[in-house]
Amino acid sequence: MIKKGNLYWPSKGLQKRAWVKSKKIYQEAQKRPIKFWEKLAREIFWHKKWKKAFLHQPPYFKWFIGGKLNITENCLDKNLEHNKNKVALIWEPEPTEESSRTFTYYELYSQVNRMANALKKLGVKKGDRVGIYLPMIPEVIISMLACARIGAVHAVVFSAFSPQALKIRLQITKAKILITADGYFRRGKVINLKENAEEGIKDTQVKKVIVVERAHNQITWKKGRDFKFHDLLETERRLCPSAIMDSEDLLFILFTSGTTGIPKGCVHTCGGYTVQAKFTGRWIFDLKEDDVFWSMADIGWITGHTYSCYSPLLNGTTFLIFEGAPDWPTPDRWAQIIEKYGVTTFYTAPTAIRMFEKYGAEFLTKYKFNTLQILGSVGEPIDEAAWRWYFTKVGKKRCPIVDTWWQTETGGILITSLPGVGPFKPAFTGLPFPGVKVDIWDEKGKSLPPNKEGNLVILPPFAPGLLREVYKNPQKYLKTYWSQYGKKVYFTSDAALKDENGLIRIVGRVDDVIKVAGHRLTTGELEAAINLHEDVTECAVVGIPDEIKGEVPVAFVVLKKKRHPQKIKEVIISKIRAEIGPIALPKEVYLVEDLPKTRSGKIMRRILRRLFTKEPLGDLSTLANPESVDIIKMKT
Ligand code: WT7
Repeated sequence: MIKKGNLYWPSKGLQKRAWVKSKKIYQEAQKRPIKFWEKLAREIFWHKKWKKAFLHQPPYFKWFIGGKLNITENCLDKNLEHNKNKVALIWEPEPTEESSRTFTYYELYSQVNRMANALKKLGVKKGDRVGIYLPMIPEVIISMLACARIGAVHAVVFSAFSPQALKIRLQITKAKILITADGYFRRGKVINLKENAEEGIKDTQVKKVIVVERAHNQITWKKGRDFKFHDLLETERRLCPSAIMDSEDLLFILFTSGTTGIPKGCVHTCGGYTVQAKFTGRWIFDLKEDDVFWSMADIGWITGHTYSCYSPLLNGTTFLIFEGAPDWPTPDRWAQIIEKYGVTTFYTAPTAIRMFEKYGAEFLTKYKFNTLQILGSVGEPIDEAAWRWYFTKVGKKRCPIVDTWWQTETGGILITSLPGVGPFKPAFTGLPFPGVKVDIWDEKGKSLPPNKEGNLVILPPFAPGLLREVYKNPQKYLKTYWSQYGKKVYFTSDAALKDENGLIRIVGRVDDVIKVAGHRLTTGELEAAINLHEDVTECAVVGIPDEIKGEVPVAFVVLKKKRHPQKIKEVIISKIRAEIGPIALPKEVYLVEDLPKTRSGKIMRRILRRLFTKEPLGDLSTLANPESVDIIKMKT
């Protein structure tokens, strides 16, 4: 990489191998974004070409109207022509003594087709929703693609989410079938996933459960309802004609936290998502057919969907999925995996980078990381210190870092610098992807000049992969994304600024979302879980800065009666674990007498947060109970 001032530029070599070599593409795309996306869409296999590329009926919009396709034909069938015996998927299990598994494009194709036939036999039809509650094992990829093959809509639920979190997602989607596993390995322990699934399917419409035998742990079994994944596949044919999908038919629903306990089901559709998934992966990670791409995110998040499943397959590349934790059983497990498979592109979150850094650089001295070409970061702002560590210790100053900004809602990456074009600037994500128009606006909707912080918005024609609706909740869709600046401007809920070169820096969320180790939670859903406790009068949860995880939640709880404070704290923590899952556990629960409130009764979470940051508390005289702050201050 070439350093000039505070910017880094790709070397000639990097530029030469890159799909996109020059800035010109931005101008072309900017002038006619719809034409630009159409040009990309033409490289996908369609059964029938679209009639109109973009239709805007605010707050709704469509892409590639009238087009017919199936994403799995683009992921699998198309690759049989040249890549039949090439490895598509490498699976690295957690136990180090267990062998990895690989699937060639043909093997993956056969398994997906068999599973698709099995689903059909169990009564799954086009448009039906299928719940998937699986860990990082190849069967999760097979299941997702099998759904897409027959036009069923997958709704993947993160395997570390609690039974309650699974239940509400199954209730909203009305899934009649769930694909899960007996268990999986996590830091040396077997997690009994089936037990969680049993609990989660109560009071839902799930009638059939498909179980992958992964950990071979003891599980309950209900004859007639439960089916073994591998038994089902064995008897099926390796050919299943794909459902011909309309461009705007649903491909999947993926939930993200809502403001209360009710999550939002982001709806992604077939045509637009396919185009965006393919070309963002190809240009940003510079995916080539001889690459080994490793994205560390779990499949339960959008990063997993797009970059650990669809995008690498659409690009005919080899990708890796890993069951375990990157620092277990030794801190360099992730580095071993990079060397073992000759990973060329590594994509992870700042939290992981900061954790690796904390272990000290010593354990890394033996790794040269010669195969690495591009590094990626996602999910939360990457601070300058973490950026520099990643750049020097892992990328050896050779690899560009693509700091990719996007959301569950956007389906694919929308802001980052391209590896062959640059420039790269620590703590800045970069430029909007070609064809994407974003801006930074003040509260009134005025575009802000460079270096002024405001709200990040996306302007028409948005991007083909942006969500089309919140599943079964049009009000939420309108209110969350299309109310701040009217129905024609997508409000991201992120604060950002751009520098004089147009590079964008993401500052953080302006709503009640907190990013804990890159995972998205809302303070509202934690509060809803705590309020379920009968002794709780009211509570407030805020995100406070954390050295490794970026942010962590802390809770302030007012109790009706003050009995057994320690016990109550434990109960509150277990409530959160039961309602959401272990990722949401607060760092601390403070039992307090009163919460700071305005005269109209609004809890001032901002003030609570500032007790943990270095910011001044601000004017407390507008509070109805300013004395509450001093009392809380003594406790924190
Ligand atoms: C929120 C979306 C998109 C995959 C994972 C997150 C934050 C995301 C970055 C980045 C700074 C980032 C934003 C965004 N975010 N990427 N590169 N730099 N912040 O998806 O869970 O839906 O969260 O994550 O605040 O709005 P998500």
